[in-house]
This record gives sequence, structure tokens and C-alpha cells, in this order.
Amino acid sequence: MNKITKAVFPVAGMGSRFLPATKASPKEMMPVVDKPLIQYAVEEAVAAGITDMVFITGRNKRAIEDHFDTAYEVEAELAARGKTELLRAVQEVIPKHVNCIYIRQSEPLGLGHAVLCAQPVVQDEPFAVILADDLIDGEPSIIKQMLDVYQRHRCSVLGVQDVPRSQTAQYGIVSSSNLEQNVEQVHGIVEKPSPETAPSTLAVVGRYILTPRIFHHLKNVQAGAGGEIQLTDGIAALLQEEKLLAYRFNGTRYDCGSKLGYLKATVAYGLKHPELSDEFAAYLSSLK
Ligand code: G1P
Repeated sequence: MNKITKAVFPVAGMGSRFLPATKASPKEMMPVVDKPLIQYAVEEAVAAGITDMVFITGRNKRAIEDHFDTAYEVEAELAARGKTELLRAVQEVIPKHVNCIYIRQSEPLGLGHAVLCAQPVVQDEPFAVILADDLIDGEPSIIKQMLDVYQRHRCSVLGVQDVPRSQTAQYGIVSSSNLEQNVEQVHGIVEKPSPETAPSTLAVVGRYILTPRIFHHLKNVQAGAGGEIQLTDGIAALLQEEKLLAYRFNGTRYDCGSKLGYLKATVAYGLKHPELSDEFAAYLSSLK
């Protein structure tokens, strides 16, 4: 199988958990300190050598396209005022060699359907899927770590971490057996099981390397949990015919789909921001 060059970013979701903040602007554009969530996700892919970013967008998501495009007025203004550092920050949002491709998901039919919308671009290649809600701080980047697993095993790989049993109904949960350090062989996967029925507490957290065979299964799966076409159900069908691995990544994950996770990310990234860290740390410790 080929080298992986494409990452799919499903960004059509409504962001209802952050209303009213997301009433008129995409949840993926919410900043953690000074960069929007979607930029962290794209930077993670770029750090893994991925060159084609495929965004599955929807209504009210134009800000994402504008963010990764040239902003002539802003750049001209910053250049005229001699603000070279800010100008660089604006111009370096995306490296020149990276392509951005936008596909509209015209109906909110679920994550599985969003990934299926990428098929005309991805075609017959393995690819990555990144959910920008899950901000994961790790070195090397989490997708890079997963690509290394993919290169060794040549099969689909899911990014996983243990979650409290009380939270299994928020995730795709796998049953598995240990294969090698941090790598599990997956035997089953189920979307959002209740704590009582969950086969384990090992949860998929918004990072996937998938073989193109997934498209075949996504075309055939019926609406599942929440009445949506679930990526998890497509992966469960894929598992019937291909090896599937789960990788316990090395990094810290912030669930920026929840207010608490988003606040934790803001604190963590504020504390390591070169311009802010000292003053922000002093401020936080003054609170107690
Ligand atoms: C989605 C997936 C789920 C996965 C989760 C990770 O759920 O359907 O399998 O565990 O992302 O964040 P959502 O958070 O969109 O409900």
C-alpha cells in the first residue's frame, strides 16, 4: 500500500455543546490561546508528512476555508505597519506545499457519512482521519506515531486511550488483546455502549488510519447510535475482513468537545506558551 498523503477532517458538525459561541462561527475555529482547534489538527498532520488536507464542511463553516487561505488585506496591513512577526504567523498558518480540499456534506448524516464524502478525493489510498475536537499534545505528533504503526503492520490503526467506565457512552469502545507494547489487536468495536455493556474501557479518541476498503462498508452500514451513519459501525464491518489495530498513543488528550476539556486545554497551552507561561503561571498560583 502507498505512503499516506491525505488526512480527512470532518468539520460539518453543529457544535451544539458550545452554543451560543458556535451560533455563527464554527466550533473548529474556537481558539486555544492563539490558534484555532482546526489549525492544531492540521499542524499535527503536517508534522506527520501529510500533504493533502481534505475538509468535510457544511453550512456556516466558511471561516475554516478563509483561515487556510491567503488574507491579502490583513497581510498588506501588517506589512505596511512593519509587524513582521504577526505577518509570519498569518502566512505560516499552512505551509506552501500543503493542499486544502473542501467537500460539502450537505446533510448531517453522521461521522461515517462525513468520511464517505471524502472518497472522491481519497480514492484507493489509505488515509488519516482527525477529529479537531480531540486536541492531543504529543511528540512526535500522534498521527506520526500512528503512521509508524501503520508502516509496520500495513492495516487500519485506531488511536485509543483508557477512559473511566462511567464515560463509555461517549465513545467508540474496542475489545482487544495485547499485540506489542502500546499496540492492541482489535476483536470488536461498538459505538457508545453503556457502562454496563461496554466490552472494555479502551476508547477511540478522534484519530484513525484507515484502509480505503472502509468506503465500501460505509456505503452499506445502516444508521446506528443516535440515528446517524457511524464510522464505528463501518470499522466494525471492516474488521470482519481485515486486521485492525488500536494504538495507545503517547501524549495528553484534551476533549475540546466539552467545556471542561476546552478549559483544561486553554490552561495547559497557556502555561507552555513562550510569551505567557511565566505570568500565567504566577496568575494561576495567585488564585489560591
Ligand atoms: C466520535 C465517534 C466516537 C469516538 C469519538 C472521539 O463521537 O463517533 O466513536 O470515540 O468521536 O472523540 P462524537 O464525539 O462525535 O460523539
